[in-house]
Amino acid sequence: MIPRRLSILAAMARNRVIGKDNALPWRLSPDLKRFKALTMGHPIIMGRKTFESIGRALPGRTSIVVTHQSGYEAEGAAVVHSIATALRECYKNTDSTETFIIGGAEIFQQTQPVCDRMYITEIQADYEGDALFPEFDHAEWIETSREKHRMEEDGLEYHFVVFDRRTDLGSR
Ligand SMILES: NC(=O)c1ccc[n+]([C@@H]2O[C@H](COP(=O)([O-])OP(=O)(O)OC[C@H]3O[C@@H](n4cnc5c(N)ncnc54)[C@H](OP(=O)(O)O)[C@@H]3O)[C@@H](O)[C@H]2O)c1
Repeated sequence: MIPRRLSILAAMARNRVIGKDNALPWRLSPDLKRFKALTMGHPIIMGRKTFESIGRALPGRTSIVVTHQSGYEAEGAAVVHSIATALRECYKNTDSTETFIIGGAEIFQQTQPVCDRMYITEIQADYEGDALFPEFDHAEWIETSREKHRMEEDGLEYHFVVFDRRTDLGSR
């Protein structure tokens, strides 16, 4: 099998909020553009609630939706019933060497321990919300890139950050 990177892709507020009422609490078009550029051509894994929040399978990507519901149907997407099956499903796309976990909170929580990379958009403001990005131990990650940006319209600052898992820790 070709080695494949497993990456989380998320946007989070300063207070770790990623969602409210099954929607994004902000409109940040540069983040959506980055999402598209990074994921195009690659498998994307998401929870059932995130799939419903997006409302459709995204074109040009293999969408994999995780749910416990046996009869669940998601047009244009593969439906699986465990994270392990979702990860196996990705290997059917042999052209891609990266799989993206695109949320939401429940799926980030369960996959974060086995991910190699996290692409995080850090929004430099607090938002109200009911879905949070999981806490993680920064000692296990190296920040390999940080691009700082600001929206012209409202001055909102956001950073595109990449964290790679440290591979030099061994078993602790
Ligand atoms: N800012 C961001 O980057 C970002 C990205 C994505 C989503 N979001 C936001 O996050 C929120 C949604 O997150 P969420 O945590 O509520 O939901 P979610 O993670 O999208 O989906 C949760 C659902 O996934 C299924 N599931 C979870 N673990 C499973 C497992 N091990 N095996 C089988 N099925 C499993 C269950 O579906 P069933 O109930 O059908 O069994 C569960 O209810 C929304 O507000 C959304 O807008 C934000």
